[in-house]
Amino acid sequence: MYDYDLLIVGSANADLVIGVERRPAAGETVLGSDLAVHPGGKGANQAVAAARLGARTALLARVGDDDHGKLLLDSQRTAGVDTVGVLVGEVPTGVALITVDPSGDNSIVVSPGANGRLTPGDIRAAASLFHASRVVSTQLEIPLETVVEVVRSLAPGSRFVLNPSPPRALPREVLDACDPLIVNEHEAKVILGTSRVGDTPEDWARILLAKGPRSVVITLGAEGALVASADGARRIPAVRVDPVDTTGAGDAFTAALAWRLGTGESLAEAAAYAARVGAAAVTKAGAQASYPTAAEVEAL
Ligand code: RIB
Repeated sequence: MYDYDLLIVGSANADLVIGVERRPAAGETVLGSDLAVHPGGKGANQAVAAARLGARTALLARVGDDDHGKLLLDSQRTAGVDTVGVLVGEVPTGVALITVDPSGDNSIVVSPGANGRLTPGDIRAAASLFHASRVVSTQLEIPLETVVEVVRSLAPGSRFVLNPSPPRALPREVLDACDPLIVNEHEAKVILGTSRVGDTPEDWARILLAKGPRSVVITLGAEGALVASADGARRIPAVRVDPVDTTGAGDAFTAALAWRLGTGESLAEAAAYAARVGAAAVTKAGAQASYPTAAEVEAL
């Protein structure tokens, strides 16, 4: 029996968001809306998304002893996330500068701050959280050596989910543990180390699986997603909504998928549910503020 359905290890950022008519090109200045400050960060977002759906969730992360850190901790606790694993202090909380255009698309620059100080030692010190968690999910806004330590700390029988965002080349040890590896096309190309990954998402999935992951999910935006494992590949249709802000929708998708896999659903079933959660998340502004409850997903 596990205490947590899901342990999220990852980043927590204050999102500084400006709405713009058009995201600026190189060398260009544009005027935008008033500044909004939201709790964000791929790890913190996943934790809130899972908890709002009803998953028993813990977060292992690092924030600064500052107002942004308080904002993030408040958001986690309000959603029902166990923050026993959130370390506070040393350096300022991570910050993400985000512009969002009228189509809901965004551009993001992250200053990692405290996220960059989440060390392998912090992971080893949290061994009890790993032993209490059915599924462990992480991303790449924390140091890669910390992600490697996450893989080494997994309890027997627990499942590891990785969204390698922002993407970088991964050691075989990490790839082998992924079940699934969740990527978009850009991330797939970086992981594979080539701009040519074959003609179809089915090709990309086949080549990714050969690199080690036990399963792969490729998100395809308006085209939905593809799930693939040794059992074969299957398309998951997109859920059509009018987008307001896509920020954090991928994090909600990943969290929902990781949680549902832990309940025993197949990869295709979990991805279909996650697609509904991700769709709901793009219909409201902000990342964590946009995440649905299970009842809202049912109503979608
Ligand atoms: O995935 C969205 C997140 O990416 C934002 O909340 C921002 O903090 C960056 O980490």
